Amino acid sequence: MGKALNKFDLTGKTVVITGAAGLLGREHAAALLGIGATVVLTDIGEAALASARLALAREADDARIVTHVMDVSRLESIKHVADQLLVAGLRVDVLVNNAAIDPKVEGDLGVRETSRLENFPLGQWNLQIAVGLTGAFLCSQVFGTAMAQDGKGGVILNIASDLSMFSPDQRLYRKPGLPDDMQPVKPVTYSVIKAGLVGMTKYLATYWVERGVRANALSPGGVFNGQGEDFVQRLSALIPMGRMAQLDEYRSAVQFLCSDASSYLNGQNIVMDGGRSTW
Ligand SMILES: NC(=O)c1ccc[n+]([C@@H]2O[C@H](COP(=O)([O-])OP(=O)(O)OC[C@H]3O[C@@H](n4cnc5c(N)ncnc54)[C@H](O)[C@@H]3O)[C@@H](O)[C@H]2O)c1
Repeated sequence: MGKALNKFDLTGKTVVITGAAGLLGREHAAALLGIGATVVLTDIGEAALASARLALAREADDARIVTHVMDVSRLESIKHVADQLLVAGLRVDVLVNNAAIDPKVEGDLGVRETSRLENFPLGQWNLQIAVGLTGAFLCSQVFGTAMAQDGKGGVILNIASDLSMFSPDQRLYRKPGLPDDMQPVKPVTYSVIKAGLVGMTKYLATYWVERGVRANALSPGGVFNGQGEDFVQRLSALIPMGRMAQLDEYRSAVQFLCSDASSYLNGQNIVMDGGRSTW
C-alpha cells in the first residue's frame, strides 16, 4: 500500500457494528473487512447474523469476522458483549452505530393509518427511539468510555440519514385512491432520531477529544433495493444526480470515516445524497 492508502489501513483494529445483519450493516462490514479490520457483527437475530457472516466470508477472511447477538436498547446486552470481547482480547477501536427500526411506509389499509402523526402509537415512538437513538447513546457510553479510558482513543461513526437534514417529502409515499387522512407517511420518529444522532455526534466529538476519541455522522440518501417503479421515479426526480444510491456506494465513505484517512475530521455530518439537499 502507498503512503496515502496506508491511512485507510485498519489491520489489527476491531470495529463493532450494530444492526450489522441488515442491508447497509453488511455493506459497512464488507467495507471495513476490505481494509483489514476485524469486524464484530452485532444484531438481534442469531440466524440473520449467521447468514451475514456467511455472505461476508465469501469476500474476506473468516477469522476476522466475529458475531454476537446484541440488543442496543438493553444496556446489559451491550455490556455482556463488551465483556466477551475483552475476554477474547479484542480492544474496540471503532464503533459504528447503525441499528435502527426502519418501518417500511406501505399503508396498513386498516381503519386508521398508524404512520400518521395524528395516530402514531406511543409504543412505536418509544420502541423506535429506544433502538435508533437511545441505542446509539448506550453503545457510545459502553464502547466510547472504554476507548477513552485506556488513552488509545477511537472513532465513533453514527449512521444518520439525508432526512437528518430536511423534512421527509411525504408526497413520495402517497398511495393512489386513499383519502388524505389515510395516506401513509414517513413517521415523525425517523426525523427525530436522525437529527438527534447528528446532535449526539457533535456532543461526542468534543466530549472525549483529549482522550483521542472522535465522532462523525454519515447521512446516506435512499438506497435502491427493489422499491416500486413509481416510488423510485418520484424520488429520483428530487435528486440532482437523478437516481437512488447503489447498495455499495457508501463503502468508501465508511472506510474513510472509520480510519486515519479522516484523522482531522471531527463532529461532522457527511451527507451523501446525490445532491438532494442542495436543491
Ligand atoms: N437503506 C437506506 O436507504 C437508508 C438510507 C438512509 C439511512 N439509512 C440508515 O442506515 C441504517 C441501516 O439501514 P438498513 O437499510 O440497513 O436497515 P435494515 O432494517 O436492513 O437494518 C437495520 C438492522 O438493525 C437491526 N435492529 C433492529 N432492532 C435492533 C436492536 N434492538 N438491537 C440491535 N439491532 C437491531 C435489525 O435487525 C436490522 O438488521 C439505519 O440507521 C437506517 O436508518 C438507511
